Amino acid sequence: MKAIILVGGEGTRLRPLTLHRLKTMVPMAGRPFMEYQLHLLKTHGVREVVLSICHMPGLIRRAFGTGSRYGMKFHYAAETTPLGTAGAIKNAEKFADVSREPVVVLNGDVLTDINLTQMLAQHRRRRARVSIALTLVSDPSAYGLVKQDAQHRILSFVEKPSSDEGQSPWVNAGVYLFDPGAFAHIPAGKPYSAERGLFPDLLAKGERVWGFTNRDYWMDIGTIDRYWQAHMDILEERMFLLPTGKVWKRNRRIRLGQTCTLHTSAHLSPGTVIGDRCRIEREARLGELLVLGNRVRVGAQAVLERSVIWDDVTIGEGARLNGCVVASGSTIGRFAHIRPGTVLGEKSVVPDYSRI
Ligand code: GTP
Repeated sequence: MKAIILVGGEGTRLRPLTLHRLKTMVPMAGRPFMEYQLHLLKTHGVREVVLSICHMPGLIRRAFGTGSRYGMKFHYAAETTPLGTAGAIKNAEKFADVSREPVVVLNGDVLTDINLTQMLAQHRRRRARVSIALTLVSDPSAYGLVKQDAQHRILSFVEKPSSDEGQSPWVNAGVYLFDPGAFAHIPAGKPYSAERGLFPDLLAKGERVWGFTNRDYWMDIGTIDRYWQAHMDILEERMFLLPTGKVWKRNRRIRLGQTCTLHTSAHLSPGTVIGDRCRIEREARLGELLVLGNRVRVGAQAVLERSVIWDDVTIGEGARLNGCVVASGSTIGRFAHIRPGTVLGEKSVVPDYSRI
């Protein structure tokens, strides 16, 4: 089975983290996000992936290359103008060799451990044209709701549910199986949405569209809140962690990269992932649920918790960070306080003693 991953969007809701990189490249607990999706695909036997690209095409090709590093083969299906989700899938068709078997399609911002093998088995059993993974979310208002019959055949879609339409809690998870025949329903070379165009159109034509309801882990990392929450879920072991570094000898829930320097008086807590060549100084306290990228320096008596810190960040003496995201190359001044919900883009500078 082959896969198409849609990674051509601008990721505007994840700004400023996506100003200089694509959503699929943002670090997730020390790895580029896409590696989680590649791991999922490999687990279910996929070795060939079409990356559907548009925005920042050179950057993504340089970052992921031919796929050999992952034991996979990548093709790049590039768009000169955004074709929307279904248009992008059509554009990827020529690389996916869709004549023989179903193709997995992933939105490039979905973190999940969904059982694709079971989904494929249901897809075949139901002889579906398209299968759509469905997940439960606590607030479905931001997602496309799906109404299905008792057998999980999809009856209708509700894109922006009002409160009285909100009875069906299953939402489109952005994970699909496309039968070879599904591609013929997508117009070539023009913008077309899967959610608002193709799927309702297939229903109108009486095509077989099935839901795959599941309670596997699922998070769309497309907003800052959910990007941060995905980290917390990984660190609290609700979702798998792709290992980085090594388990620290004193606590199995702390992972430490290569050649880190930890002062003997520094305090580390469970649910922490530290990258390579970090330096943690005297009496610094790394509280629970923390990710440090590579080459992060944490000054003496700094206190950090529930935060995601990217590479090459310097945190001054006595600084306090809680519930924030700090992108690469940033500098946090001495005794600065960064409050929950703060997101600092790349190369931010926070002056000494400031409160933000
Ligand atoms: P926002 O700008 O924050 O809305 O994000 P987005 O447009 O990057 O993502 P959205 O959630 O709207 O789209 C779902 C997935 O489809 C993401 O992984 C996008 O990268 C991808 N995508 C959206 N539009 C296009 C497109 O025109 N072409 C391609 N190739 N991918 C797309």
